[in-house]
Amino acid sequence: MLALAPAQFVALAPQSLQLAVIVPTFNEGENVGPLVERLAIALQGIAWEAIFVDDGSTDETVSVLTSIALVDPRVRMIQRVGRRGLSTAVVEGMLASVAPVLAVIDADLQHDERLLPRLLKAVTDDGADIAIGTRYAVGGSTSGWEHARLQMSRFATQLASTLLKVRLSDPMSGFFAIRRDAFLASLPNLSSLGYKIMLDIVASAPKPLLVREEPYQFRPRLAGQSKLDAAIAFEYALLLADKTIGKYVPLRLMMFLGVGALGLAVNLAILAILMTASALPFWAAQTIAVSCAMTFNFLLNNLFTYRDRRLHGLALVQGLLTFYLSCSLGGAANVQVGSMILAGGGEWWVAGTMGAVVGSLWNYVASSVLTWKR
Ligand code: GDD
Ligand code: MN
Repeated sequence: MLALAPAQFVALAPQSLQLAVIVPTFNEGENVGPLVERLAIALQGIAWEAIFVDDGSTDETVSVLTSIALVDPRVRMIQRVGRRGLSTAVVEGMLASVAPVLAVIDADLQHDERLLPRLLKAVTDDGADIAIGTRYAVGGSTSGWEHARLQMSRFATQLASTLLKVRLSDPMSGFFAIRRDAFLASLPNLSSLGYKIMLDIVASAPKPLLVREEPYQFRPRLAGQSKLDAAIAFEYALLLADKTIGKYVPLRLMMFLGVGALGLAVNLAILAILMTASALPFWAAQTIAVSCAMTFNFLLNNLFTYRDRRLHGLALVQGLLTFYLSCSLGGAANVQVGSMILAGGGEWWVAGTMGAVVGSLWNYVASSVLTWKR
């Protein structure tokens, strides 16, 4: 007798959901309680829900959120295990809601939650696809940032508008609201690298989004710590690269080839040293040089190219061995292809280049399957 007619479902629902607020968290134990209280005040009269997405906080964030969500059905929590990443956290939070408008706000109270109704209205009533809280337009501000951080932020902003051709006054903003269907349209093209999910969504839209910007005052962080570190700049560069050249060549392949080029330099440098400063025959000197270069490439790829699948401990040793294996086979393929081209009457440099191309591609594919498998 559980079959309810749709009309009865509707009768059960007091007001249909208007807004989901996605909140990524990592060690924000002191902030999440006050944030929910502030959301409840700022969003009075709006049917909202909040979805916290936590990446294994080691403080009391999860227990605080659990006790809140137990008594407040508007609040939900997603716990991700063994994962880190602001962008993917936000995407998964958005996918967990069916609300017609999805907003994102930081947990640390730096974004002004009182702007949310205006962001919502811009999207529902004023025809914008996305409404963005901006720190740089007239009326917005970044309270108390040192000169260096401001300069860096300005530079990154400039870079985004030049490379991605998106005209936003604050493309780094992590505070925005978007229509769910606009988010879903961008979803298949997202890079999901690093921190800048809003920029990613705007740059991934199949047709240009109608953007509305709303100024607000960026508040200083009172409790907890910023998670912004040196890796952020690197991940930002990756996002921009993926959004520009990434359409033509996979980003991972480009990094793998870049590392390979550095490895070649290491190989030649060691070979030069051994050939001039030691009595070793060429084959011995080259064997040592190649081994060093392969190890160097393995470590660099593990740090950068496959940083999301980074190997540690015993897996690192196993990975090194499988990497040697793939590279040896790749090297053999390199020589084979080169010899075939040469035998067919090709120039030596064409044979060498084609051999290197085939060998590198082989190494890339083999190591992604054998060494850094999912
Ligand atoms: N789930 C999850 N996973 N959350 C994370 C992670 C992560 O790996 N890293 C950070 N967070 C959460 C933090 O707990 C916080 O709620 C929010 O993401 C922002 O992190 P902060 O460390 O406070 O970043 P910020 O203040 O330096 O920069 C923020 O504001 C800027 C201005 O809008 C970010 O949102 C930037 O992207 C944004 O430019
Ligand atoms: Mn912050």
